[in-house]
Amino acid sequence: MTESAISQPVSGPSSPLDLFGDEVLADPYPAYAELRALGPAVYAERLNAWVLPRYDSVKAALLDPETFSSVNGLHLNPEGNQWVTAGSVLAADGLEHARLRRVLSKQLAPRAIRDLADSLRARADELVVSLADRDSFDAVTDLAAPYVTGVILELMGLPHVDGSGLVKQVESVFDTFAAPNPRVYAGLPAAQAMFEFLQTVATRDNVSPDSWLGAAHAAADRGEIAEIECVMTMAAYTTAGMDTTIHAIATAVQMLTSDREQWELVRDGKVPYEALFGETLRYEAPIQGFGRRVMRETTVGDATIPEGAQVWLMFGSSGRDEAKWGADADVFDVRRPDAADHLALGFGTHLCAGNHLALMEFDAVFGALARHFPGLAPDPAAPPTRVLNNVLRIWDRVNVLTRP
Ligand code: HEM
Repeated sequence: MTESAISQPVSGPSSPLDLFGDEVLADPYPAYAELRALGPAVYAERLNAWVLPRYDSVKAALLDPETFSSVNGLHLNPEGNQWVTAGSVLAADGLEHARLRRVLSKQLAPRAIRDLADSLRARADELVVSLADRDSFDAVTDLAAPYVTGVILELMGLPHVDGSGLVKQVESVFDTFAAPNPRVYAGLPAAQAMFEFLQTVATRDNVSPDSWLGAAHAAADRGEIAEIECVMTMAAYTTAGMDTTIHAIATAVQMLTSDREQWELVRDGKVPYEALFGETLRYEAPIQGFGRRVMRETTVGDATIPEGAQVWLMFGSSGRDEAKWGADADVFDVRRPDAADHLALGFGTHLCAGNHLALMEFDAVFGALARHFPGLAPDPAAPPTRVLNNVLRIWDRVNVLTRP
């Protein structure tokens, strides 16, 4: 399938919006509403791709991987597809996808994650207690980033490795998914640096056999994956499992501390952590979108999308679609009964492999915050600030007061 297959005239609604421009990234939701109003699929001229902004159109595409392929299609630029995700579980279809996904399926199954619950909660408790003598802390750099990085490196089998540089490298990897812009090209060398770092630390003699990497090496020994795929697996799980969860936790802290009633509902156990997790991801998908390659001409609403074209699945927009969520789609409410229907973890074959782990991390972190900082509140002297990223909705800092 070539990338030049899209030289025919566009049929269907189109838009000049640049989804990856600074202005849209700073506050994407008005642009998303504009695109949803145009139709379930809209040709984005500046991206040379069709964007799917509505809940129903994103879900339908996720359920039809034979038409909307992940191979050579996750990034809206050829370099990303070729150098960053090619050969990984994320960018595979069919039997190849099943083969790669099997490597860690046992380790990430609900039962295995339930077995980790005590240690994940103890780790969160220890970290939160270490912040107890402070009047304020940053939920990104003092809490979510060290917690999630520590969890992932330990599970990978690399607890002794300093992974503090990984968070920024993963941010850069996500930048590479967009249509060509300066952030994409700044991200490519950082992605390369991440692979090199992982290749150096993830050697066989460096990891325990009961870790994720140990499982990958065992799969290589059984001939189920190639040796090189051990590092690819590590890279896919590091990319997918770190900044996503870090910023989901930071968003939840930001939303809960800016609305006392919501915090009290969570803190006092009136709603389960699962409801907080679902509503946070619906309200602000950490991964705002991913691409797909169209394998055969297909019609979505009034748009005819030719074979070989690319589409952009707008997870972030799908979470704000009034047709699905009602008139209060832009309101954060942990009582929302159907929040778990969100598409922020994907759906169908590529449904997030780490979804049970991410939920457990939420449970552990917010349980610890509720126990130790019942009065958690925003820090008026240091309002939250963001970092612009092509794909992730991320924070620079979310400062909070421990006892206002
Ligand atoms: C709140 C946190 C998370 C969010 C929002 C998130 C989001 C997503 C999304 C949207 C996909 C689907 C990609 C697609 O359809 O192309 C995905 C897949 C994936 N996620 Fe997550 N993720 C999170 C946490 C994690 C964690 C903790 C891990 C594990 C360490 C993880 C590992 C993966 C993997 C391996 C895939 C690829 C699955 C496949 O292609 O079959 N994720 N994630």
